Amino acid sequence: ARLVVLVSGSGTNLQALLDAIAADPGYGARVIAVGADRDGIAGLERARRAGLPTFVVRVQDHGSREEWDSALAAATAAYEPDLVVSAGFMKILGKEFLARFGGRIVNTHPALLPSFPGAHGVREALGYGVKVTGCTVHFVDDGIDTGPIIAQAAVAVLPEDTEEALHERIKEVERGLLVDVVGRLARDGYRIEGRKVTIPS
Ligand code: GRF
Repeated sequence: ARLVVLVSGSGTNLQALLDAIAADPGYGARVIAVGADRDGIAGLERARRAGLPTFVVRVQDHGSREEWDSALAAATAAYEPDLVVSAGFMKILGKEFLARFGGRIVNTHPALLPSFPGAHGVREALGYGVKVTGCTVHFVDDGIDTGPIIAQAAVAVLPEDTEEALHERIKEVERGLLVDVVGRLARDGYRIEGRKVTIPS
């Protein structure tokens, strides 16, 4: 399967995918290109170091959010992805992007959805005082972190946890979950029926 990965930050989830693909010829997917909504991020450096094409589509370069979304969809479509993987991508994908790639966009979120959706899931879980949090890999729909859940993994919250420490510990689990899910989707195929995802195997 052809993957386009969208990033906005350090790109450790992207790196985990690249490492898994390099280590396992039978993984069943390869990253064709990496896109971002901003330049100057480690995620793009990781892509360039891996010799991959990159594209940057910045909101401020477009007259409206819709135009940005349309430009991002076109830039992504140029690589003819089978699956789009949003790995730490910090923008909400709009109508055109969803119309073009809906049902084939996977996102990873550092909380156990439906708890703590949005850009500060780790901070909010910590603030709420949960004893267990975790990460979720799901298909993207037209909501914010609301699409059908594919897999989740739990991470204990420790008494002295800061947001950064907890997020790092979640990310260690999250990158393994994402690599496992993307590989299975690519190799085994899948069905989405309402909120239920089935990966035959
Ligand atoms: C990940 O935890 C992702 O779920 C969240 O931000 C983090 C991005 O990490 N949105 P990276 O850019 O993959 O290192």
